[in-house]
Amino acid sequence: MGSLGAYTPSFRVLDDTRPDDTTLPAFMVSTTRGFLPRMDPIVSLPSEFDPLETILQRMPVKTAKNEAGLLAAGNLGDVVHEELPNLAWAVDKYKANLPLMNALYRDYSFLASAYLLEPCHQRFVNGQSYGLGRKILPSNVAQPIAQCAEICGFKPFMEYAGSYALFNYRLEEPDAGVEYSNLRLIRAFENGLDPASSEAGFVLVHIDMVKHSGPLVDGTMRCFKAVPSGDYGPEADEARSAFNSGLVSILEAMKCINGVMETMWSKSRPMEYTSFRTFIFGITSQSMFPDGVVYEGLYDNQPQDFRGESGANDSMIPLMDNFLQVPMPDTPLTEILRDFREYRPSNHKAFLHFARDESLRLGVKDYALGTKGQEDTELLRESRNLWLEILNQVRDFRWRHWCFAREYILKRTSHPTATGGSPIVTWLPNQLVAVLGEMARVYEIGGEGLGQRAADIMEAATRQKQTLSKEVDKYCAERGVDR
Ligand code: HEM
Repeated sequence: MGSLGAYTPSFRVLDDTRPDDTTLPAFMVSTTRGFLPRMDPIVSLPSEFDPLETILQRMPVKTAKNEAGLLAAGNLGDVVHEELPNLAWAVDKYKANLPLMNALYRDYSFLASAYLLEPCHQRFVNGQSYGLGRKILPSNVAQPIAQCAEICGFKPFMEYAGSYALFNYRLEEPDAGVEYSNLRLIRAFENGLDPASSEAGFVLVHIDMVKHSGPLVDGTMRCFKAVPSGDYGPEADEARSAFNSGLVSILEAMKCINGVMETMWSKSRPMEYTSFRTFIFGITSQSMFPDGVVYEGLYDNQPQDFRGESGANDSMIPLMDNFLQVPMPDTPLTEILRDFREYRPSNHKAFLHFARDESLRLGVKDYALGTKGQEDTELLRESRNLWLEILNQVRDFRWRHWCFAREYILKRTSHPTATGGSPIVTWLPNQLVAVLGEMARVYEIGGEGLGQRAADIMEAATRQKQTLSKEVDKYCAERGVDR
């Protein structure tokens, strides 16, 4: 008997995101907005936070008024010490408004990163190495950020979703919606308040991609709903058709997301990435913070370390890894992948855990690939092909990503770690090789019966694996890094 119609998931995915409800966290997974926040991010803060607002507006290297800001001259540190009161009391006043807490978390985390990394930026623009960042985050920043982070369920340091990227856009024309040309950054470090800048392009392409994650979530839930819970009975065809339709939704979403990802090359120029990147480094495994950072007056004044902003904290690819049950190798690099998955909105985290457990509990992969003795039907062949095609999209994402790392980072700087603290040469290939390996296993199950398209996919994947191996060898040799 199929489970069509009878399935009640243990995780509640929203259909209606209730944008005006301030009692819910800003980030809750939905079938409509996917991993974007439930509402467009809050731009303006209550007047109590005017002292913070004025500093943030004066902060970027180039301000919205096209003037040299505090970071241009290296004056931010002094201004934070001299002008910013400790507004922890005001955070407390508004603590029941969760989206506002998220906006404050975003704003304090911009200030914290700029403050800590300002000396590194000064050295970088003078052609020197980063040197050391500031070691102490003063209490007028540390206390409010720790407060809002705790309320929102974030780490008290800049994160990808809650701060840098997904809660950092505003709509130029409110009625024109989340269209790329209508998006502007709320906060920036360098010249990102200019929408044509590489800093803006870098962030906005992420948002433009995540905008398409609704059907990814919807397709995943539809697949879970369709997998038969017991013996495959008379409704087998109906269940498999519904399952395949869920897979199609996932596949189309992934194609769209990858298509938008490709626009990165023109929206954010590879030559310009390293200059705004200085401010998005974390304080884990970074030479700028060998002893971490003390949050003045907090955590017994013991140094803390947190990973920085990284697309690795985006939820789309982790969802695919979990849904598809992609086996990752047992390596220290995979440990970093797991650690990255801690840095995200708590509702995203819970959803990813749910997707991982549900996929295993329902035997989604076995069902998709027909490895439990199912009858070899045309519909099963379709499931296998769709599964391989989705894996191929995950490969496509990760391969393009390796190309980004090569062109934006490896060719421009010898700094050995990425913003999230992963080793720059070996980490991305760790996951890409895992996906390529999984594709080969899936193809072996389906065999030649999968048809020419699958054969072509596999031929290209095999070539890509060889190219990747040569490139990684080259960069490892050049940089004296072990594989
Ligand atoms: C110029 C463009 C980009 C560059 C240079 C770049 C760089 C990196 C680097 C170096 C990492 C390694 C992790 C770390 O930060 O320590 C990473 C991971 C990651 N980034 Fe990006 N990124 C770019 C664009 C994007 C975009 C647009 C997305 C879309 C959401 C994204 C999503 C991811 C994901 C999912 C991972 C983890 C990869 C995995 O699991 O294998 N990145 N990125």
